[in-house]
Amino acid sequence: MSLNNLQQRILEIKKQKNALLLVHNYQIPEIQEIADELGDSLELCRKAQEAEDVDMIVFCGVDFMAETAKVLNPDKKVVIPSRKAVCPMASMLSMDMLMEAKAKYPDAPVVLYVNTLAEAKAEATVTCTSANADKVVRQLGAKQVIFGPDKNLGYFVNKSLPDVELIYVPEDGHCRVHRFIGNGDEAMALKEQHPGSEVWAHPECEPEFQEKADYVLSTGGMVRRANETDAEVIIVGTEEGLIDRLKREHPEKKFLPAKKYSVCGAMKRITLENLYVAMVDEEFEVHVPDEISEKAAVSIERMLDMS
Ligand code: 13P
Ligand code: SF4
Repeated sequence: MSLNNLQQRILEIKKQKNALLLVHNYQIPEIQEIADELGDSLELCRKAQEAEDVDMIVFCGVDFMAETAKVLNPDKKVVIPSRKAVCPMASMLSMDMLMEAKAKYPDAPVVLYVNTLAEAKAEATVTCTSANADKVVRQLGAKQVIFGPDKNLGYFVNKSLPDVELIYVPEDGHCRVHRFIGNGDEAMALKEQHPGSEVWAHPECEPEFQEKADYVLSTGGMVRRANETDAEVIIVGTEEGLIDRLKREHPEKKFLPAKKYSVCGAMKRITLENLYVAMVDEEFEVHVPDEISEKAAVSIERMLDMS
């Protein structure tokens, strides 16, 4: 793979500054190509937790991901290349809603998707990602669980744990990108055109699509499934950045979007240009107040221990 000038300059500065470049699967291909670690939310949390010998973490992802890296590394500089890389789902859970639910169900543990802001994580029993939500909820052994903000991820959890009552905060939290992918009818029409193909849905997809899909997987799960499957055509129900990765890693296979133009605008706020500036100027630095960070770290580390 030949790198362009800007990619090479970013790599040089990264080396000079002993920085770690963490990149989510939804980033543009040019950024994916120069990542130290390219992965899903859980994989990137783990890498952030292990980041002992680096002087700076540069996070190409959205706000809550960079915040999580900061919470796990309070003494390190954590930088995100754009302040506009803000996940709308993470902002759907207000502290008022969360505290109201906690007051109403004082005995119920609180499981929050990592797609939340640090102040919400500070009030959670444990966090989860799309790769471990069912595992985390199972280990709590509770009958009632306060769960948020993604209702579709809750649906996925209830598929394997039907006896657990999930109390949703907010009532209809969702990801716009995965909601846009729809009920899976288009994916099934594509499957009919390609006999032997597989259909994958992310747990943030609508329940109707989850029901129709052959596999419901986190983006990391999709990367692993691509290594295992004999299917030559795969219909992928998630953001397009992941499809860019799959095409690069498996040029012999055909990956088709379950819905065209499934693009996360927040993820795409990060460009090679603003990543270069972030490396040079060490901006924009992520800050989390100590009292929030200390409490949020407990719920994130609990998740990492449970998964
Ligand atoms: P993954 O953890 O599966 O990569 O998902 C993160 C995310 O934000 C999906 O929208
Ligand atoms: Fe947030 Fe959805 Fe974008 Fe993921 S894909 S970062 S949940 S808006």
